Formats: sequence, C-alpha cells, structure tokens
Amino acid sequence: MTETVTSPSPGTSDGGDALRSWLAENRRKHRVLWDEQTRSCQVFGFAETQAMLRDPETFSSDFSRLIPAPQSPVEVAPGERPVPNLLKGHLSVTDPPRHRKLRNLVSQALTPRAVSDLEGKITEITAGLLDAMEGRDEVEMVSGFFNPLPVTVIAELLGVPAEDHAMFRGWADSLVSANHDAGAVDAARLQVPEEMAGLLLEMESYILDHAARRRREPSDDVLSRLVAAEVDGESLDESEVFVITLMLLLAGHISTTLLLGNALVCLDDNPRALATLREDPAAIPGALEEVLRHSPPAPLAYRLTTRETTLGGVDIPADVMVASWVMSANHDERQFADAEAFDIGRTPNPHLSFGHGIHFCIGAPLGRMEARIALSMLLERCPEPRLAEPPVYYDSPTIFGVKRLVLSGLTA
Ligand code: HEM
Repeated sequence: MTETVTSPSPGTSDGGDALRSWLAENRRKHRVLWDEQTRSCQVFGFAETQAMLRDPETFSSDFSRLIPAPQSPVEVAPGERPVPNLLKGHLSVTDPPRHRKLRNLVSQALTPRAVSDLEGKITEITAGLLDAMEGRDEVEMVSGFFNPLPVTVIAELLGVPAEDHAMFRGWADSLVSANHDAGAVDAARLQVPEEMAGLLLEMESYILDHAARRRREPSDDVLSRLVAAEVDGESLDESEVFVITLMLLLAGHISTTLLLGNALVCLDDNPRALATLREDPAAIPGALEEVLRHSPPAPLAYRLTTRETTLGGVDIPADVMVASWVMSANHDERQFADAEAFDIGRTPNPHLSFGHGIHFCIGAPLGRMEARIALSMLLERCPEPRLAEPPVYYDSPTIFGVKRLVLSGLTA
C-alpha cells in the first residue's frame, strides 16, 4: 500500500494556475494516491478516473451512510411540514438498481425533442438579455447574462410561468451561494443548512402545487412528463418530483453559467482562437468542448468505496472517500497530446467534464446547446469582447469558474 502525504490542494481564486500546477506535479508522481495518514484517496490519471467512474458497484455515489443519523427524531410542530429529504430522488447520489429506474423516469421527461424544441426559446431569451446590455460600455456578465440564461431555460423547461421566473432565479441564486461561498464539499452538501430550511419548504410548496396542476391539466413541459412517467408500473412520489426539479435547477444552471464564464476567460487568454471563432462560428461547438476539457466547471468527482479494491495498482480500503480530479484527467499527457495547450481544433476530445458511465450528465445536450447559442450570439453582437478588470473566481474545490466577470467592447 502506498503511503504518501501530499499538500492540500490550493484554492482557485487565482484562476486555477496554482491548482493546475499542483495537479500536474501530483500526476507526474502518482496516478492514484492513497494517504494513510488522512485515510483519503485522490485520483489524478485519465484512465484511472475513467475506470473509477465506470464501476459504480465498487465506487458508490451514495454517501448517506457517512451522514450521522439524528440523535432523536426531528420534531415537527403540528401543522408544519418536515424539511424535504434531499437524498430521495437525487440521481447523483443514488446507486443502481434505484439509479437506473430514476434515470429512466427523468429521461422520459427530458427527451431529445424536449431539448431541441427549446432552441427557439433559448435564442429568444439570449436576444433579450443581450438587448438589455445595449448601449452599456461595461457589463458584469455573470449576473447579466451567464446566470439568468440557464435559470430561465430551466424555468421554461419545467413550465414555470413567466411571471414567476424572477422568483425562481432568486431561489437558484440563494442555493448556489449557500453551497459554494463557504467552500462546502460534496458530502456536506447533502445536509440541509438550517438557514436553507425555509427556502426549501417555500420551493417545495410552489413546485408541488405546480405539479398537482400539471397532473390535472398536463401540458407539454418536463414537469407534466415527470409526473406522468412510469417505469415497471412505478411513478415518482411527491418528494421525488420535488428533489428532481431542484436537482435540474441546480445541476442545470450553475455548470452552464460556469462554462460560459470559462469560455470568455479562455478566449481572452487565446486571441487567435477568438479570431477563428469570429470568422468561422461553425468552430464554436469544438471550442466549447476544449473549454470544458481545459477548465471543467466540475473539477472533482467523489465516490465512496464499497469494498477493498485496487485502482491504478494502488490498494484502497473499503469505506473511504475517493476524490477523482477530472481537471487532472483532462490534462493527462497520456491521453491528450500537448495537454496544457488550449486547442479549439482538438479532435477527438474525450474529456470527462460531463462525467462518464451511468452518471454521465443527462443535461449535456441542453448545456451544449445553450452555450453554443449564447456564445454565437454574443460574438455576433460583440466581436471583440475584452475583460475590463480581472475576473473574480469561486474558491471552491467542487466548482471551477468565475463569479464576477466585467466585459467591455460590447458596443464595438
Ligand atoms: C454545460 C454544463 C454542464 C456540465 C459541465 C455538467 C456536468 C455534469 C457532471 C460532471 C455530471 C456527473 C457527476 C458525477 O458523475 O457524479 C453531471 C450529472 C448530471 N447533470 Fe450535468 N452538467 C452540465 C449541464 C447540465 C444541465 C443543463 C442539466 C439539466 C438540465 C444537468 C443535469 C444533470 C443531472 C440530472 C445529472 C445527474 C445524472 C446522474 O447521476 O445520472 N447538467 N453533470
């Protein structure tokens, strides 16, 4: 068994330079690192990350057994509802066989047609956001564009009426800041911080009212399909409908927001790539794949071992958390030639930024379409975007990207 102690991973407030160097140094020394002292495991290699994500029987996504059971039953005053259980129905933290059933149910709602039907709506929302920037020299893009776009798209997808979109966006903002400003790690994310309980109850009540309406009068939206979906004669219960909706809102918005911010930073760092995209918008989808590889919005994937195992020749005991660095796998020289270079023509580009195996991102087609439309329309209106000030990055181990990015050159 390898016994090596490594320094803790550096923060990302510098835009990821220190983290990338730290990952490169670790990757050179060990593809997989088991640290006896902290009883933790980290994975740095591409093949090893892929192997881990492909084996959910050994590397589980269900961390519920790490969360201590409450000492006494949670007391709920008469007439009050308990805080929703966020683990029940959450695809990302569910193992097979339950995962397969839930995923089938969600796939019935999030069909390729449901996604492709949104193309016109996404174009309309993007145009509206860009119109609102007209005439301004400088714009803070995260709050003005990168964030409202995917949140409004999810609201549309779920069939939330337009007059409630602002409220929906408010919820999404509160959820993201509660999760990431404190640099919370994934396992902790599964517990509901006390200050979030009120917000969750408010959201639950809104979503369930909306779901009940859709049961009575189905429409052509994801929520209607979610309440109608069945696998083996089983449909989703109320709490699952709520958790899946919440999961779509959270997973579907923050990563797309980060992808767009990371795209602008990568293009600012690589003016030749920007010039290519200006001349040839058909190169945008390939460029976005390279942004995903280079700067993955989700740089880490966690799993919990269910049994003793060996990964990359390293023995790992049962019941330990394994932190797999997707950002390192994406920069692994054994998989990607000239891995540190930002190359928008890279083909193939089998990055792991949407995951791999049974938990592969179910929203990838939607995220890709949103980012393609947003970047194409932004570059059409604003061919020479420039960062007006250094971007401000999240300093979280689980998300990578900017939380503030001011752009100038919008009225070029
Ligand atoms: C473009 C940006 C996006 C990125 C980079 C991204 C990334 C990821 C990654 C890495 C995973 C796998 C997590 C794991 O293995 O533990 C994942 C899963 C997931 N994503 Fe995304 N995602 C994006 C957009 C979306 C969108 C737009 C939606 C929804 C509409 C979405 C919904 C989900 C869901 C529901 C899962 C859980 C799937 C499962 O566990 O079976 N994502 N995403």
